[in-house]
Amino acid sequence: MKELLKELRERSLQAIAGTDSAEELEALRVQYLGKKGELTAILKQMGKLTADERPVMGQMANEVRAALEETLEKRRKVLAERALELRLAAETLDVTVPGEVHNLGHRHPMYIVLDEIKSIFIGMGFDILEDREVELADYNFTKLNVEEGHPAREWSDTFYFTEDSSILLRTQTSPMQVHAMESRQLPIRIIAPGRVYRKDEVDATHSPMFHQIEGMAIDRGVTMGDLKGTLNEVVKQLYGADTKTRFRPHHFPFTEPSCEMDVQCHKCGGKGCPTCKGEGWIEILGAGMIHPKVLTGCGIDAGVYSGWAFGMGLERLALRRFNISDLRLIFENDVRFLEQF
Ligand code: PHE
Repeated sequence: MKELLKELRERSLQAIAGTDSAEELEALRVQYLGKKGELTAILKQMGKLTADERPVMGQMANEVRAALEETLEKRRKVLAERALELRLAAETLDVTVPGEVHNLGHRHPMYIVLDEIKSIFIGMGFDILEDREVELADYNFTKLNVEEGHPAREWSDTFYFTEDSSILLRTQTSPMQVHAMESRQLPIRIIAPGRVYRKDEVDATHSPMFHQIEGMAIDRGVTMGDLKGTLNEVVKQLYGADTKTRFRPHHFPFTEPSCEMDVQCHKCGGKGCPTCKGEGWIEILGAGMIHPKVLTGCGIDAGVYSGWAFGMGLERLALRRFNISDLRLIFENDVRFLEQF
């Protein structure tokens, strides 16, 4: 028995010294000192000893237990310290390392112009609408008085989703006029900016996707004079008080009478130059008095109410505003270009 205790003592102290973690250490404690542990097993044999031997063995067993407990406790402290050191080393924070530089972006030049236009119209009591880009041909064409068979509905100009030409990518923001009339109470004053799509090849002035801003006002007694006054005011706020405009007669199926609005060329002051293709004027929008057929089709009494509408190309306004010569730069999103605004 003496031998057994001696052997246990040596073996266990060695094992404890070799532990690397608190879990390992606890496992050893259970193995040696637990209720079903090795020391208990040895003590169970005490019954076989003589009365003289028993107290000697008892004392020796107690010493082994005490030695084991002390060694376990010392090792526990060592391991805890080591774990703390490791953690501190791993979590070291070097406050002298330079911070990461995050490049903050800014608004795209076209959206800078859009935000200006929005706030001008909000100042005049208009609401902003934004809506779907996938449209029913009914809303893009039919309800806007563009009958079946009209050349504007050609497959060569429009991205259709269905063989029967009933669903498409909107070719203009004008269907927003119909949505507004169908969903809002009169009087209506809205602008509706958004993307539109046409089958155009990309060049300096064309893109198959571009942006328009639709505008519309309907109330009792609204006239062409209101249309001109409102648009003149918008252009003056956008480009400066001395900006000259002109209105030319035009044709759109959904307005009558219809017109286009030109702004005097900012480059040559109206003399004629490459920017305005020698015209002295640059066209920025189409507009007119909403056709009574369109009003009636949307359930509005054209005998009582009248309204005007316009649609302007946003890219063109941004090009002019920032003196950019090529439409493609707007969409390429080259940061070296965008950073300049
Ligand atoms: N939707 C027309 C276009 O895309 C512009 C327009 C809008 C004309 C509203 C009149 C009234 O050219």
